[in-house]
Amino acid sequence: MKKKIVVLSGAGISAESGISTFRDSNGLWENYRIEEVATPEAWNTNPELVQRFYNLRRKQVMEVFPNAAHVFFRELESHYNVVVVTQNIDDLHERAGSSNVIHLHGNIRYAKSSGPKQEAKYYPIEGWELSMNDLCDDGYPLRPHVVWFGESVPEMERAVETLSDADYLIVIGTSLNVYPAAGLIHYVSNSCEKLIVDPKVSELPVDSSFTSLAKSAVESVPELKKFFGIDSLRS
Ligand SMILES: NC(=O)c1ccc[n+]([C@@H]2O[C@H](COP(=O)([O-])OP(=O)(O)OC[C@H]3O[C@@H](n4cnc5c(N)ncnc54)[C@H](O)[C@@H]3O)[C@@H](O)[C@H]2O)c1
Repeated sequence: MKKKIVVLSGAGISAESGISTFRDSNGLWENYRIEEVATPEAWNTNPELVQRFYNLRRKQVMEVFPNAAHVFFRELESHYNVVVVTQNIDDLHERAGSSNVIHLHGNIRYAKSSGPKQEAKYYPIEGWELSMNDLCDDGYPLRPHVVWFGESVPEMERAVETLSDADYLIVIGTSLNVYPAAGLIHYVSNSCEKLIVDPKVSELPVDSSFTSLAKSAVESVPELKKFFGIDSLRS
C-alpha cells in the first residue's frame, strides 16, 4: 500500500505563480484591510466592494499558472497517496493535476448563496466576474465561495480525519497564523514525519520535531524530490 502524504499549503506556495500572500505585505491583502473585504460584516456593510475585491482576485487567479511546487505534489501521486489540504482559495493545486484537494477556506472559482441558510451548494463561475444581480435559486445574491474571518470552517473535520493516519506531513507556504487551520499540525500521529518549507521558517511557531527547509516553495522541490526518492523511482 502506498504511504500517505498530507500537504498543508498556504498563500506562500502560490507566491511564485504571482499571487501575493498577505503576511508579506503587512497584513494587507492587495492593499485592502482584511476587515474591509473578508468578513461577514464587510459583506453586510458594502457587498459591492467585497464582490469587486474577489472579482479582481479571481481574474488574477485565472491569469496565472501553477508553479513547480504545485506540479511536484501532483507528481508525488505516482508513488504516494497524497492529500492536499489548502488554505488557498485559488485553484492552482487542481490545475496542476492534484486529484485530492481539500479547500479549508473555499475556492474562488465557485459561488454560493449569501442567504442565511449556509448550504454546501457551490456553483462554478463562468469567467471572472460575479455581479450583485447574479442570484441564487433562493433569491439571494451569489457570493464567492470563500470562508471569511469569523465564519466556521466546514472542511475542518475532513482535514483532521485525513491527517490522523498520515505517514508524512509537509507544511508549505503558511505563516500558521490563521486558526483553526494552523492547529491542524497537531492532529498527526507521533510516528508521522513532518517537514516545513518557508523562506522565513525560523519565525514560524513549530518545534524541532519538524525538518525545516528555509527555501521558497519552488526552490525546495529538488530537496523534496530527494527526500521522497522521486528521482530514483519510476511510475
Ligand atoms: N493564493 C491564495 O489563495 C491566497 C493569497 C493570499 C491570502 N489568502 C488567504 O489568506 C490566508 C493567509 O494565511 P496563510 O498562512 O496561507 O498565508 P500568510 O500570508 O499568512 O503567510 C504566507 C507564508 O508564506 C511564506 N512565503 C512567502 N513566499 C513564499 C514562497 N515563495 N514559498 C514558500 N513560502 C513563502 C511567508 O514567509 C509566510 O510564512 C489564508 O487563509 C488564505 O485563505 C489566500
